[in-house]
Amino acid sequence: MGLTGIILMGLLLMLSSVEAYDGGGWDSGHATFSGGGGASGTMGGACGYGNPDSQGYGTNTTALSTALFDNGLSCGACFEIMCVNDTQWCLPGTIVVTATDLCPPGGLCDPPNQHFDLSQPAFQLIAQSQAGIVPVFHRRVSCERSG
Ligand SMILES: *[C@@H]1O[C@H](CO)[C@@H](O)[C@H](O)[C@H]1NC(C)=O
Ligand SMILES: *[C@@H]1O[C@H](CO)[C@@H](O)[C@H](O)[C@H]1NC(C)=O
Repeated sequence: MGLTGIILMGLLLMLSSVEAYDGGGWDSGHATFSGGGGASGTMGGACGYGNPDSQGYGTNTTALSTALFDNGLSCGACFEIMCVNDTQWCLPGTIVVTATDLCPPGGLCDPPNQHFDLSQPAFQLIAQSQAGIVPVFHRRVSCERSG
């Protein structure tokens, strides 16, 4: 009884933090993209998923910087990302991407940067690809994967 209550309360707290939209719960970082039209840039790699397309992840995938990767604990985690502060290149709305790789060390991907190296199709849903790099807000969300 008591335990159920505690679990329920935990669930409610989790839900309410996921619902909070107004800046609370969002962290800032940056996003780039790699690969061609497919998700090839984030294929295989540090999470050992092989081809994410065939794993049901589709093309909405990302590689994470070292600070976000958490030694692999973030593999398969989902992040909601939106482009911010760049009225020239940002597109409205958010995307949810699945972490499938560690982005290679060097520059943007090194600690303490919170950096997402998105698949190109994912990047193009939040910004125009000519931008190359955009500032983003991001937060971890539960995965709603179909299939
Ligand atoms: C967006 O711009 C505001 C005001 O210039 C700044 O405080 C904020 O840190 C910026 N956010 C990102 C993610 O760059
Ligand atoms: C990627 O995410 C967008 C926005 O959430 C969605 O409309 C699209 O269907 C997704 N694509 C794939 C391949 O899952």
